[in-house]
Amino acid sequence: MAKVILLSGSPRKDSNSMEILDICAKSIENEDVDTEIISLRGMNIESCVACNKCNGNGNCVLKDGLDKIIDKIRDSEGFIPVAPIYFGTARGDIMSALQRIGKVSKGNGKFLSWMVGGPIAVARRGGQSLTLQEMSMFFPINDMIMVGSDYWNIIFALEEKTAHTDEEGIATIQKFGENVAKLIKKIS
Ligand SMILES: Cc1cc2nc3c(=O)[nH]c(=O)nc-3n(C[C@H](O)[C@H](O)[C@H](O)COP(=O)(O)O)c2cc1C
Repeated sequence: MAKVILLSGSPRKDSNSMEILDICAKSIENEDVDTEIISLRGMNIESCVACNKCNGNGNCVLKDGLDKIIDKIRDSEGFIPVAPIYFGTARGDIMSALQRIGKVSKGNGKFLSWMVGGPIAVARRGGQSLTLQEMSMFFPINDMIMVGSDYWNIIFALEEKTAHTDEEGIATIQKFGENVAKLIKKIS
């Protein structure tokens, strides 16, 4: 069965990012596409050091656990990262992860090619549009297919596990998840 990897960039235990991904995953599974939610919580994701050792080697040589996540993405048909917004842009770990995932793909047969997905951003009040644009740069440069919804994939929430109170944001994410699954089935 086709599968979508959903990746949370939040360090918090009961994060809004994880709550959003749970909801998104349900919409995807309603369309009979498999999901796996992975969190960067507790990990210390390093930035790409431009060593180029991943080229032809299959994976990143940095030993912080991202290589195992990259293997799961490689075996999937969809990819959805979510970022908590810190000072108007995406939290550093998720951008470091995206940059290394893209680098490994380019150096190893471009496994991200035609993978379906798109980013999600969550914050209390500001930075959602810019962060969504920042994360969106990852998809087209990796020959991926970014999917739409009825609005942008932005959620307004501050305290842990309050993302569900942003009703319009959640409806947007549900439609987005459904669209990701439908497109994967169409092109499979
Ligand atoms: C260091 C830091 C910086 C933050 N900067 C912003 C910000 O620029 N704009 C905003 O609206 N919220 C900001 N927030 C609030 C978080 O984005 C918000 O709590 C969000 O729900 C966190 O998502 P999470 O629960 O998935 O970690 C910041 C929080 C922290 C810890």
